[in-house]
Amino acid sequence: PRIFVPNDATAIACGADKVFGKLKDALAARGVTYDIVRNGSRGLFWLEPLIEIETPAGRVGYGPVKPSDVESLLEAGFVNGAPHPLCVGLVEEIPFLKKQTRLTFARCGIIDPLSLDDYKAHGGYKGFERAVALGPAATVEEVFESGLRGRGGAGFPTGIKWRTVAAAPADQRYIVCNADEGDSGTFADRLIMEADPFCLIEGMTIAGLAVGATKGFVYCRSEYPLSYAVMEKAIAIARQAGLLGRNIAGSGVDFDMEMRLGAGAYVCGEETALLDSLEGKRGVVRAKPPLPAHKGLFGRPTVINNLISLATVPVILEKGGKFYKDFGMGRSRGTMPIQLAGNIKHGGLFETAFGIPLGELIYDIGGGTASGRPVRAVQAGGPLGAYLPTSQFDTPFDYEAFAAKDALIGHGGIVVFDDTVDMAHMAKFAMEFCAHESCGKCTPCRIGSTRGVETIDKVIAGERRDANLVVLRDLCNTMKLGSLCALGGFTPYPVLSALNHFPEDFGAAPKLPQ
Ligand code: NAI
Ligand code: SF4
Repeated sequence: PRIFVPNDATAIACGADKVFGKLKDALAARGVTYDIVRNGSRGLFWLEPLIEIETPAGRVGYGPVKPSDVESLLEAGFVNGAPHPLCVGLVEEIPFLKKQTRLTFARCGIIDPLSLDDYKAHGGYKGFERAVALGPAATVEEVFESGLRGRGGAGFPTGIKWRTVAAAPADQRYIVCNADEGDSGTFADRLIMEADPFCLIEGMTIAGLAVGATKGFVYCRSEYPLSYAVMEKAIAIARQAGLLGRNIAGSGVDFDMEMRLGAGAYVCGEETALLDSLEGKRGVVRAKPPLPAHKGLFGRPTVINNLISLATVPVILEKGGKFYKDFGMGRSRGTMPIQLAGNIKHGGLFETAFGIPLGELIYDIGGGTASGRPVRAVQAGGPLGAYLPTSQFDTPFDYEAFAAKDALIGHGGIVVFDDTVDMAHMAKFAMEFCAHESCGKCTPCRIGSTRGVETIDKVIAGERRDANLVVLRDLCNTMKLGSLCALGGFTPYPVLSALNHFPEDFGAAPKLPQ
């Protein structure tokens, strides 16, 4: 049987490398050899490091394992799936995993991330084969038919974006993967890169085939050194195996790709700032139009997609656009990797069809707060997302349903807060974050965010509270309407949602126009 010890940034932060070392030494001291696979994470973070062992009944898990647990695990006979206080039983039967619909993340934690054989044995490159058989135009239409929308947050239909790029006349087109995953509480991109890197490579290759692009770049944030290293290795393996480069697997398709590292600026997750950064310039937002689909990287038509959008393409091509479209609700089709973080008992990645109510995610799936105190608010969609109070927990996880509440699902991150949170300070933090990360190109964001911090400080200090709340709302309105990109334009959402839903944290309850 094989033993699995995750090589994942979260698991390593929780001691996985030390557990791996200890296990190897302990097995060697006993004179026994096992095949220890460094898999990716299943995304059940409260159990990390989660060690798994293959048994005839399926994979049995043990976690969270500390290095000091290794001896007692071996004594108990964990290599045969024997009982132990850390045993969590068959991993596939853990409710958090069993309740999921894993399409994009189907292989995560299961396969050896750097084994092409393992990848292919679990459906890898079936999507590419089908795309080759369909040809470029039908591949674009398959993605359109699936209803896939941009997983970075804007939710623009991926098929339409690809059609635009395919139709733009050019000597060179590019595929750019946005892996600058900067939202608070998000880790879906990282999990794919560390657990299933060939899935991204296959998705980008299919995108290249579909729109006639021969070159791709992955823009990975510098805070993800492990993801970067795993991707570099996977790209080299794929190239060696003839799955990147000229005439891929005899298909006539030419496509190659490279990794690029960001330098820690949140705004470089905005697509045009990202393109400037890729070109070697300072990451400053470009005015649109022209759209990147027409004039993107080095002025050429460019598909710039979020990593999750691209990593979802292989399963869409493998199983068909219609299969994918059958999941979800309304105009939100397919599945979304929801990332539960912050003060939550069972934090991790939960991939499910759109439509699940927010409250079910927080209580039934996530088990409520880690502190055991009542939930007061959640922030969905990153630092620019609204705070939702428990009275809105019946909201289904869906682009339009969230937008109707002045909220956004963004990249699928949900950060939970208990009743000790001070919402006036959270509102101030949103403005501080904007001031810190602003690219400086436009006035409402560059200056407005700093004035916002000052104004909220005055409200907190009780200084001319009502008048300053009017100023704050006016400022938020200006930022919303006058900012060039989502950083300045969306910062008002966390500020106003905190103010509207939790007025008691801002002193006297404001009775002002919304
Ligand atoms: P956008 O709505 O301007 O564009 C979305 C995408 O569609 C872009 O790639 C754009 O180039 C493309 N597009 C638009 N019209 C097109 C057309 N006719 N043909 C081809 N392509 C077209 O949104 P943007 O500025 O890219 O992102 C803003 C959104 O990002 C916000 O709505 C928010 O939900 C989300 N967001 C996500 C964050 C994150 O970190 N994940 C943070 C902040 C905001
Ligand atoms: Fe730059 Fe902020 Fe303007 Fe966006 S809103 S272009 S980050 S100054």
